[in-house]
Amino acid sequence: MGSFKIISTFLLVLLPFPSFHPKCGASASAEEAAALLKWKASFRNQNNSFLTSWNLQSINAKKSSVLPCTWAGISCIDGRVNRLNLSDWSIEGSLYDFPFSSLPNLEYLDLSQNQIFGSIPKQIGNLSKLSYLNFYANELSQEIPPEICNLTNLTHLDFGSNQLSGALPESPGNLTNLIILYIYENQLSGSISKEIGDLKFLTDMELSDNQLNGSIPASIGNLSTLESLSNLTNLIELDLSENQLSSSIPVSIGNLSDLELLALHENQFSGTIPPTFGNLSRLVDLRLFGNHLSGPIPSAIGNLISLQLLSLGDNNLIGAIPKSLGNLTNLIELYLQNNQFSGPLPELLCQSGILQNISVSENMLTGPIPKKMFGVYPVLDFIDLSNNKFYGKLSSNWGECKMLKTLIVAKNNITGGVPPEIGNLTQLHTLNLSLNYLSGEIPREIGKLTQLSELDLSQNFFTGEIPSEFQNLQSLGTLDLSQNNLSGLIPKALAELPGLLHINLSFNNLKGPIPSGRAFVNLTLEEVKGNKGLCGNITGLRALLYKEIVRSTEEFSDTYCIGKGGCGSVYKAQLPSGEVVAVKRLHNIPNVGKDKSFLNEIRALTEIKHRNIVKLFGFCSNAQHSILVYEYLERGSLAKILSIEEQAKELDWQKRLNIIKGVAHALSYMHHDCSPPIVHRDISSNNILLEPECEAHVSDFGTAKFLRRDSSNWSSLAGTYGYVAPEFAYTMKVNEKCDVYSFGVLAMEVIKGKHPGDLIANLLSSTLEEIELITKVS
Ligand SMILES: *[C@@H]1O[C@H](CO)[C@@H](O)[C@H](O)[C@H]1NC(C)=O
Ligand SMILES: *[C@@H]1O[C@H](CO)[C@@H](O)[C@H](O)[C@H]1NC(C)=O
Ligand SMILES: *[C@@H]1O[C@H](CO)[C@@H](O)[C@H](O)[C@H]1NC(C)=O
Ligand SMILES: *[C@@H]1O[C@H](CO)[C@@H](O)[C@H](O)[C@H]1NC(C)=O
Ligand SMILES: *[C@@H]1O[C@H](CO)[C@@H](O)[C@H](O)[C@H]1NC(C)=O
Ligand SMILES: *[C@@H]1O[C@H](CO)[C@@H](O)[C@H](O)[C@H]1NC(C)=O
Ligand SMILES: *[C@@H]1O[C@H](CO)[C@@H](O)[C@H](O)[C@H]1NC(C)=O
Ligand SMILES: *[C@@H]1O[C@H](CO)[C@@H](O)[C@H](O)[C@H]1NC(C)=O
Ligand SMILES: *[C@@H]1O[C@H](CO)[C@@H](O)[C@H](O)[C@H]1NC(C)=O
Ligand SMILES: *[C@@H]1O[C@H](CO)[C@@H](O)[C@H](O)[C@H]1NC(C)=O
Ligand SMILES: *[C@@H]1O[C@H](CO)[C@@H](O)[C@H](O)[C@H]1NC(C)=O
Ligand SMILES: *[C@@H]1O[C@H](CO)[C@@H](O)[C@H](O)[C@H]1NC(C)=O
Repeated sequence: MGSFKIISTFLLVLLPFPSFHPKCGASASAEEAAALLKWKASFRNQNNSFLTSWNLQSINAKKSSVLPCTWAGISCIDGRVNRLNLSDWSIEGSLYDFPFSSLPNLEYLDLSQNQIFGSIPKQIGNLSKLSYLNFYANELSQEIPPEICNLTNLTHLDFGSNQLSGALPESPGNLTNLIILYIYENQLSGSISKEIGDLKFLTDMELSDNQLNGSIPASIGNLSTLESLSNLTNLIELDLSENQLSSSIPVSIGNLSDLELLALHENQFSGTIPPTFGNLSRLVDLRLFGNHLSGPIPSAIGNLISLQLLSLGDNNLIGAIPKSLGNLTNLIELYLQNNQFSGPLPELLCQSGILQNISVSENMLTGPIPKKMFGVYPVLDFIDLSNNKFYGKLSSNWGECKMLKTLIVAKNNITGGVPPEIGNLTQLHTLNLSLNYLSGEIPREIGKLTQLSELDLSQNFFTGEIPSEFQNLQSLGTLDLSQNNLSGLIPKALAELPGLLHINLSFNNLKGPIPSGRAFVNLTLEEVKGNKGLCGNITGLRALLYKEIVRSTEEFSDTYCIGKGGCGSVYKAQLPSGEVVAVKRLHNIPNVGKDKSFLNEIRALTEIKHRNIVKLFGFCSNAQHSILVYEYLERGSLAKILSIEEQAKELDWQKRLNIIKGVAHALSYMHHDCSPPIVHRDISSNNILLEPECEAHVSDFGTAKFLRRDSSNWSSLAGTYGYVAPEFAYTMKVNEKCDVYSFGVLAMEVIKGKHPGDLIANLLSSTLEEIELITKVS
């Protein structure tokens, strides 16, 4: 025998393939090798380094084996391929040339985690000895061939994470030896046939993330009946989540007493949670969230003593949260959010001390938050009690939850103060106590929460100042203190918090300057309005205080008024520093449009700085007024000058040319040098201001618009009658040309000395005719 092996190896080395001696029994193997090479030749990536051993010279003399048994990824029994494992080999190819008919002894086929595309050929049914088949994580598409059901010896079938479509195989019941069935993450449709119940050895069935519909056949857990002798009582994991399965959940699932995972979430199941679930004493993970389940949680749920995760959120469940949940001493995560649970949160809820996450948000729970909740769970990580009807005070023992990262109690009826023990929760990332009736001062201890990234205390009754300890919140990204009664100044250090992106201080009693600093660069009116008097400093002024402006204009007396417009009036104000500024006060009507134009103006003028564009020094906003502070231009508007004969005479041709040039420079800068380009949309002689040397300054950016390339830039009509481009009036599409048209009108006005009204009317009517003509032709 030994010498025969040596000789046969010797022969193999000497004789070039494929002329094996038939006696070596190599012909079948040779056929297998040739067939596999043909498949390899069809791959898109011929340089695949995993496949270098797959060639006809690859003979390992030591092993005295024959081709292809020496190739990587291949094992043989009696010289015939019985195992092919190319898992994660970077193969890019199809199964079109796979040698199904040439590998009759194949028992294990693992092609998982490659880029195999195309359909699964029906010849797969020829691999009759196959017990293990794994195509997980490829790009296979189209229907699963019915011939798959010929593989009656299959125990492991994994087609997960492909693009397979069509229905599940019609008679999966023939695969009676199946233990593992994974076809998750595909596009399967149709329903699950009742023959599924014949797969009596099945331990794992995962069909999640498909488009399966219909109901779960009761056969899945039926006790032996005349109709069906089998059942799936060996099932350990059943995952049918993320499909379109409907009807009620079969009571018979309660018979699957070995189940450890039951995931039916994100389907359309209705009806109640079967009380038989109480039999599933080995269940570790129960996910029913995102269905239309109704009725109460059966109190038998307390029997699921192995449960670690219970997720029933986003259903229509009602009633009290059963006290028996307290029996679940292994529970780590509890999600009951967005149902209609009422009554109190049970004190005894999970007494084990290993609970980490609780969400009961968006229910109708009432009563005080159980004190015990905070005391006994040292490992609590996440608590969301928001949007319920909890009342009473916050307890001080919550400081014992040293691991807590998220605490959300928003939108309840909590009263009293925030206990200083809050400062003990040093791991907190998110603290949201908004929309309650909390009062008193914000505890300085919050400054100890250096990991905090989101702090929302809005819509309460907090008083006092913003604690200066907030400067320690170096991780803070969002700070919302809006709609409280906070007073005093905004701490300067807030503006320097390195990560602060969103800040809302609106509707408090804050006053004084808005500190300049990176966190406040992008502050909008929305975020500071409704205070006692906050002023923003954009550039230039040393100290801008609302009350100084009020005093220097004698409370916006008409004496100081130098112009009136649609949005507001403009005043001349001399500040205590001696500086003279123009102050535009927007009309005192609560109005979204007004706020929008205020914001627009601040945004546009913060972006742009040009000698022919008016400078914005700052703004102030309180509950009554919003004001903008500009450089003061002594000569006033071009419209005014042109209308007063004496002053108009002073404007010689050189000056007029200079004015037109100045406006052109400003527009060119806004349209071509700003990114995104800014369109003014209201160029008119009223909005051109002149300085003593008659240099033009474009003003009034209340209707300005940033032209974003990625948006359509449609808009409602804006601008002054007689200056609006006719095509804009018809199409409502904003672009730079709107300004160019208005500029043309303005240029004619400067030359003529008055608005070229007649000319425009002619132009407009002929344009109208043109438009009508074009419409008729096209
Ligand atoms: C194989 O060749 C392709 C180009 O044909 C190249 O993009 C790829 O990186 C190569 N892969 C290996 C493993 O050499
Ligand atoms: C295939 O090989 C991988 C390792 O490359 C291994 O994890 C897997 O279990 C193998 N499959 C079979 C069916 O032996
Ligand atoms: C392989 O399968 C096809 C189709 O299922 C069948 O027609 C053919 O006879 C089979 N060949 C062998 C060798 O079993
Ligand atoms: C299925 O497996 C059994 C036991 O291993 C074996 O006897 C039988 O021949 C196999 N069936 C086929 C079609 O290979
Ligand atoms: C294979 O499956 C097809 C279709 O399901 C069937 O017609 C054929 O008889 C089966 N072949 C064998 C050998 O079982
Ligand atoms: C599957 O089982 C049914 C009934 O048990 C039988 O009629 C059919 O021929 C089988 N199909 C295959 C492919 O074995
Ligand atoms: C499940 O079916 C088997 C027969 O396949 C039977 O022996 C067993 O009693 C059934 N189990 C239940 C819970 O019905
Ligand atoms: C489960 O909880 C209920 C109600 O709290 C109690 O009556 C029952 O004895 C508990 N069962 C177990 C096994 O602890
Ligand atoms: C909060 O309490 C007030 C009375 O204190 C009550 O009118 C209101 O309905 C409660 N809100 C909620 C959500 O329970
Ligand atoms: C918890 O907070 C209280 C009040 O701020 C403080 O007195 C106590 O020292 C803190 N305990 C720990 C362990 O930090
Ligand atoms: C302000 O907004 C601009 C534009 O959205 C952005 O690029 C910039 O990073 C922001 N600055 C700060 C300090 O957030
Ligand atoms: C206003 O801004 C200017 C320039 O940006 C700066 O020099 C000045 O200190 C600021 N004043 C206040 C009160 O923040």
